[in-house]
Amino acid sequence: MSETSQAELERLRDAIRRHERLYYVEDQPQISDADFDALMARLAAIERAHPEWITPDSPTQRVGGEPRAGLAKAAHSSPLLSLDNAYSQAELADFDRRVRAGAGGEPVAYVAELKFDGLSMALHYEAGRFLRGLTRGDGETGEVVTENLRTLRSIPLTVGAAERAAAGLPPRFEVRGEVLMPRAAFQRLNQEREEEGEPRFANPRNAAAGAVRVLDARVTAARRLDFYAYAALVNGQPLLPSQAQTLAALAQAGFKVGRWRACRDLAAAWDFVQECERERETLPFEIDGVVLKVDDEGLRQKLGSTSKFPRWAIAYKYAARQAVTRVNDIVMSVGRTGALTPTAWLEPVAVGGVTVSRSTLHNLDEIERLGVRVGDSVRIERSGDVIPKVLEVVADLPRGPEPYQAPTRCPVCGSGVHREPGEVILRCVNPNCPAQLQQSLHHFARRGVMNIGGLGPALIEQLTQTGMVRDLADLYEKLDLEPLAALERMGEKSARNLIAQIDKSRANPLWRLIYGLGIRFVGERTAELLAERFGSLEALMEASEGELEQVEEVGPRIAAAIRIFFSEPANRDLVRRLRAAGLDPRQEPRAPRVPQTLAGKKLVLTGTLPHFSREEMKARIEAAGGKVSGSVSAKTDYVVAGEEAGSKLDKARELGVTVLDEAGIEALLEGRA
Ligand code: IVH
Repeated sequence: MSETSQAELERLRDAIRRHERLYYVEDQPQISDADFDALMARLAAIERAHPEWITPDSPTQRVGGEPRAGLAKAAHSSPLLSLDNAYSQAELADFDRRVRAGAGGEPVAYVAELKFDGLSMALHYEAGRFLRGLTRGDGETGEVVTENLRTLRSIPLTVGAAERAAAGLPPRFEVRGEVLMPRAAFQRLNQEREEEGEPRFANPRNAAAGAVRVLDARVTAARRLDFYAYAALVNGQPLLPSQAQTLAALAQAGFKVGRWRACRDLAAAWDFVQECERERETLPFEIDGVVLKVDDEGLRQKLGSTSKFPRWAIAYKYAARQAVTRVNDIVMSVGRTGALTPTAWLEPVAVGGVTVSRSTLHNLDEIERLGVRVGDSVRIERSGDVIPKVLEVVADLPRGPEPYQAPTRCPVCGSGVHREPGEVILRCVNPNCPAQLQQSLHHFARRGVMNIGGLGPALIEQLTQTGMVRDLADLYEKLDLEPLAALERMGEKSARNLIAQIDKSRANPLWRLIYGLGIRFVGERTAELLAERFGSLEALMEASEGELEQVEEVGPRIAAAIRIFFSEPANRDLVRRLRAAGLDPRQEPRAPRVPQTLAGKKLVLTGTLPHFSREEMKARIEAAGGKVSGSVSAKTDYVVAGEEAGSKLDKARELGVTVLDEAGIEALLEGRA
């Protein structure tokens, strides 16, 4: 190979490292697993041909996921091995032959289990109590995620003496299994992320990985993960003489175990494989195949393991749910925040038992990355998500005539569209765009938010088109029985029902109303936390960015979005009208995390502080309950002065206002002064 190939090799390694980061660290893969495997295979092939080019930092030299900085690590009691794969009945038969040869030729009994598409974990119990949870890591060493795992309801925190006795478990034992995110939780999470302007997770597995490998257990708790057990060990060695006994014991002890079957031979196992494939879609979580394990522990020992996987087990992997079809159109829809989202309208095609005719393209960058045109043939994949995604354009099939042109006008109202620098999202510039109003009404009314039954898309369209509803408050102020009843497909009964539903919604708790306002980045959980902290719409509306940032999970970006929302006069007016219409839920506000050492105090900042920018200090002061203003007066309590303080310092001295340096304000903030 020439010099250029070595350059190509480096480029390939860089690409793989980037995709590894995207997958393992950021949980945002940009290419399919199959494409990633193809990149790795190419790298491995080059390195096989040129072993002299192999470097210790080549991606081929590493096993397992990159550990996330900040999580402690601990050694496993015995390695967490991976599984060899089979993709056909013939490959399973080969496996069975090898196993039988090792067993002396007789048919071998297997246990067939679901292959959960999640993350393997090792849970350590002492005196029956869950003491430590580890991720797989590189198989030898895992990351300590005990606190995060404690939030999973399907992980028993204690296994009592009676249950242990029934299951045959000693006080100290280890359970291995898989953490996964059920489909329903995944869909809900992605919907929330979309509403909050966060990128969607590609599949439940990535969402689960992100949720387990975090430093804040509250994030794990909010993701509703599940744990399924498949092994019980003591001192790193199997506890019971057979897999069937193990699974039964785990269930006895209070662990979830997935569907499984004891099979007397390969034929029986094959039936299970096919049965599960047929029923795959009806399971509450994703599986990517079935695992076949030799049942008898003695035989397992005899068969042993390679450095990577046991010789006594194999994973039969189902075919990826992919298909190739034609892009008939690329259509932009306008969301509640005015964001234009492209969708590919596809020639309907069956993928894994479901007919697919739409696929999300996320944003313009994605269209560009894929290079997709109307008329192209594309490979699509369904992976856990209800919305399938476009993996790639099939280059050797006829292409569409021309590259996709981004619209310059909103497809709904015809106003201009705008793309903020550094953002991938196009937005309609018209704040009164009917699409935006319709989407906000839809969000406000839907189940899980204000829960106004009967206010569906068709009715929302009529209400906005006739001008009966121009904003959210109109729902409460403007809707009268007669004109409502006169709308298409309404009638008096439906109109009465709708009015009753709207009335009922006035009694919703505060978080629903905050969520319903549709503030950017404020999803259900953030709304709950804001409601807890501020207790009323009014208090939330007047909160400073510093005060907002004191709320758990609210960072500068969300705080700014809330401030921007409430500084818009139309939104302030909306809140005022909603309150006047009887929507003013209240609750007891919870104390902020930071002690209010500057409650009610007025401060002025001047000059440059040694360790903090003015913005940072302002946020800290506000978080501690103080107010920061721009000019010194007799009402000012403190002036905080840094280097090169100017006229404000003179004024403070003149008025006899206390002047503090950085150490002085620190002492006050911490309650030491
Ligand atoms: S047994 C030595 N059983 O699949 C035995 N693994 O592709 C190794 N997995 O790392 C594990 N469902 O995370 C086993 N029922 C099941 C499984 C299962 C999913 C995962 C596991 C493993 C990976 C290998």
